[in-house]
Amino acid sequence: MGQAQTAAERDGPVAAEPVFDTRITRLFGIAHPILAGGLQWLAEARYVAAAAEAGAIGFITAASFPDNESLIAEIRRCRGLTGGRPFGVNVSMLPKLARHERVDDIMKVVVDEGVRFVETAGRNPAEYIPMLHGAGIKVIHKVPAVRYAVSAEEAGVDAVSIVGYECGGHPGMELVGSFVQAAMAARAVKIPYCIGGGVGTGAQIAAALAMGADGVIIGTRFLVAEELWAHRSFKEKVAAARESDTVLVMQSVRNTVRILRNQTAEAVAEIEARGEGSLETLLPLVAGHIGREAYVSGNISRGALAMGQALAFTNTIEPLSDIVASLMREAVAAADRLKGLARP
Ligand SMILES: Cc1cc2nc3c(=O)[nH]c(=O)nc-3n(C[C@H](O)[C@H](O)[C@H](O)COP(=O)(O)O)c2cc1C
Repeated sequence: MGQAQTAAERDGPVAAEPVFDTRITRLFGIAHPILAGGLQWLAEARYVAAAAEAGAIGFITAASFPDNESLIAEIRRCRGLTGGRPFGVNVSMLPKLARHERVDDIMKVVVDEGVRFVETAGRNPAEYIPMLHGAGIKVIHKVPAVRYAVSAEEAGVDAVSIVGYECGGHPGMELVGSFVQAAMAARAVKIPYCIGGGVGTGAQIAAALAMGADGVIIGTRFLVAEELWAHRSFKEKVAAARESDTVLVMQSVRNTVRILRNQTAEAVAEIEARGEGSLETLLPLVAGHIGREAYVSGNISRGALAMGQALAFTNTIEPLSDIVASLMREAVAAADRLKGLARP
């Protein structure tokens, strides 16, 4: 359940000096090895600017905007709010659910607007790499399994994020945990990479770095950020939720997603258990606008609301910079602990 104190109250004034220098901090020009991954409906200019202010990098989620004009306006708003700090755009390419795929359009907007960083997710972004690299844009591709990271590397992306079973959103079909993926990635991936899925403490960041990663990607832990536009009541419910309050659904249509256990999740699971899972039966329940309504109203009983097992760590609503500062303090403490364990 929620803790009464914010990180700032608990730990005193927040100071998140850069501590770790990795290929990811250098690639993005950021203070801390932390990516705030795309969040459908939620990752807009204010949230992304808060991530930038905190020394991380966030990604405006292109699919949240209905047309090119609104996306362009949001990118410009973000540029104004970030004051030159790095930010990016998330481009999700999930062919099965995309009724009118706008990826070509979005990529063109990104290039025309001079965006410097793109987070792709879903299918392999190979076809867009020449265009994006031609415009000087760095591409980080997000995958749910190490073998897809290897194929993205072969396709020429600049970096990859690998998310495990614990993650909010799409953990893929193979459902391998983040700890195993982190160890596998160290052996298989040559380009800079982030590990995610369940990351919500600084010790996990230190562990990921110790295992060979260059950074972490976080979604769920930031759902209690003050700067997120969602209704306060949504965040209060996230703060009260536990690691066991999520479920995996949509496996029947090969589009597994980890979401909050609510009426929608139960209805979907029931249809799938009856063997009746199909896009036609499930889409009306998981349609994006229902989820958006939950963020607006704070009533979380309906909608497929992506969140992961890092709900274990989302105890308090606080500014994103305080969350990042706590994470970095904990990461340093974990690194010190390792040093302290060395035998003389
Ligand atoms: C509410 C929510 C919405 C998300 N929407 C997207 C999205 O639109 N595109 C995307 O690539 N990833 C999306 N993700 C995944 C995150 O970017 C990130 O990879 C993931 O949350 C990391 O795992 P974690 O939740 O355990 O931190 C979403 C995650 C959450 C929690």
